[in-house]
Amino acid sequence: MNVVLCDDYQQMSTQAATVFAECLAANPAAVLGLATGSTPIGVYENLIARFKAGEISFAEATSFNLDEYIGLHRDHPQSYYYFMHQQLFNHVDLPSQRIFVPSGVESDYGAYCQWYEDRITEAGGIDLQILGIGSDGHIAFNEPGTALGSRTHITELDHQTIDDNARFFQSKAEVPRRAITMGVATIMDARKIILLATGEHKATAIRDAIAGPVSSECTASALQQHPDVTFYLDSAAASLLPAE
Ligand code: F6R
Repeated sequence: MNVVLCDDYQQMSTQAATVFAECLAANPAAVLGLATGSTPIGVYENLIARFKAGEISFAEATSFNLDEYIGLHRDHPQSYYYFMHQQLFNHVDLPSQRIFVPSGVESDYGAYCQWYEDRITEAGGIDLQILGIGSDGHIAFNEPGTALGSRTHITELDHQTIDDNARFFQSKAEVPRRAITMGVATIMDARKIILLATGEHKATAIRDAIAGPVSSECTASALQQHPDVTFYLDSAAASLLPAE
């Protein structure tokens, strides 16, 4: 488990984008695992700039997003499908048939979750997965208490997550209560993982993820058992880590 301390959000975003660029340079047909939320926006901006400068291409790549709110159609402005198109997909050459964002409006989720897992397997597995972290220690929407062996499933959002994500909606009441999410084990199958966090409000989650016991109470702690994971943190997010 590696920890990279970054000066600020900008530097963190540039460094993480460089990891993506290196992945695509090594394998233009790479399978990318993508996240939503505020944290990766700077990475996506940086990737768009590199694409426009002709430095990288996604033409042969495939992407899988981590999660989606249940009940939000893909054209809802707060859906993660919509977010990803606004923040990245509309600005780069990733072919639409190789963009996978879990659907929030399925009727048979038992079958759909398995279908999503099968698509990842069929693509050859995820080469590089980017993660944010919830203030409750979640990765994707694997809330405290989620089994570390979980695969893509439907979950109830934690009250902390509903509070945290209310900033994107008109009111807290509008935040969906359920989501579809890759499981912890789905994420752990990625060959390389980078997790980004900035700000004091992530410090407890980062401490528990890196220095706490491996426990479903902080699903990010499972990453301690992954062979290739790097945390990119600013000093505020790293502020509660024990001195080495
Ligand atoms: C988003 C996701 C979540 C977020 C986390 C942090 O696809 O899976 O785990 O990464 O909630 O969100 P932000 O970056 O908004 O603080």
